[in-house]
Amino acid sequence: MSSIICVSGGKGGVGKSFISINLGYWMSKLLHRHVLVISADPTNKTVDRYITHFSEYGWDDFLKGTALDIDECLSRTNVENLYVVPARTEDFLDIDPDLRKIMTRLDFFRRDVLSGSFGAVILDTPAGYNAINQIYSRISQTNLVVATPREDDIRGVLEFLSLLRAGWRESWKEDVKGLQGIVNMIYSKEEARQVCTTLSLPLLGYVGYTKKKEEATKLGEIYSNLFPSDPVTLQMKDITLSLLGRSPITNNTSSFFSLYQRIKNSIFSSG
Ligand SMILES: Nc1ncnc2c1ncn2[C@@H]1O[C@H](COP(=O)(O)OP(=O)(O)OP(=O)(O)O)[C@@H](O)[C@H]1O
Ligand SMILES: [Mg+2]
Repeated sequence: MSSIICVSGGKGGVGKSFISINLGYWMSKLLHRHVLVISADPTNKTVDRYITHFSEYGWDDFLKGTALDIDECLSRTNVENLYVVPARTEDFLDIDPDLRKIMTRLDFFRRDVLSGSFGAVILDTPAGYNAINQIYSRISQTNLVVATPREDDIRGVLEFLSLLRAGWRESWKEDVKGLQGIVNMIYSKEEARQVCTTLSLPLLGYVGYTKKKEEATKLGEIYSNLFPSDPVTLQMKDITLSLLGRSPITNNTSSFFSLYQRIKNSIFSSG
């Protein structure tokens, strides 16, 4: 059984794409199954930069129906089991202004994906609130909202959430499921708690600000892959573990366990 995870946010530049690809990385590592990150933001095709082998078709071809099956749209990355579905257009709404057709395609996608063999499907969506974001949210089992401690970002998320909750009940009679917050670019844990309290959102996890991000971008590498033991990488791992219902191991217990493991291993290897 797969799960569709929608990554959205009130404003641009809050780290939706960064979180989407690193979440995809950890999902593929922890589940040992194929994981898709969909470049569903045609204005910022950020996750396309991690593709090593492009597929013939992209997400817009799937929405148009040119590609019948999502399997035709899977581009490879340099991480085993991690695939990106690229965006080939500048505006998905250009494909067909009749949203009902897109809704029909996305409903097919949901049924196809849920019965399929993917470990997880992550939608990296456009900034702010718009019609297509509303549909992406409704087809997802989990809705992750990315915020930062910046005041105008928080205002943007509040507006986004009220529009998301109010919108489209008439045509898409399903609620937005699994809403949780990820607070990005924080300097202290307390900041993350405060942001989620203001937003009345359960806090799934937080990600610290890292200066090394630019280095990874220049090399075209996924952050968690390039810096395996960096705090930000481990925070992304914790977020993924929480999503999978496996409680994240805090730093204290993990060092305790690794100490225990080392002692155990040395006893067994000497015996
Ligand atoms: N935790 C972080 N520490 C440092 N830099 C970060 C962090 N998260 C994201 N960034 C950087 O901030 C910028 C915006 O991130 P990203 O592109 O992921 O945001 P986005 O929400 O997808 O933006 P857009 O709405 O424009 O698509 C990028 O340059 C990214 O590398
Ligand atoms: Mg983006």
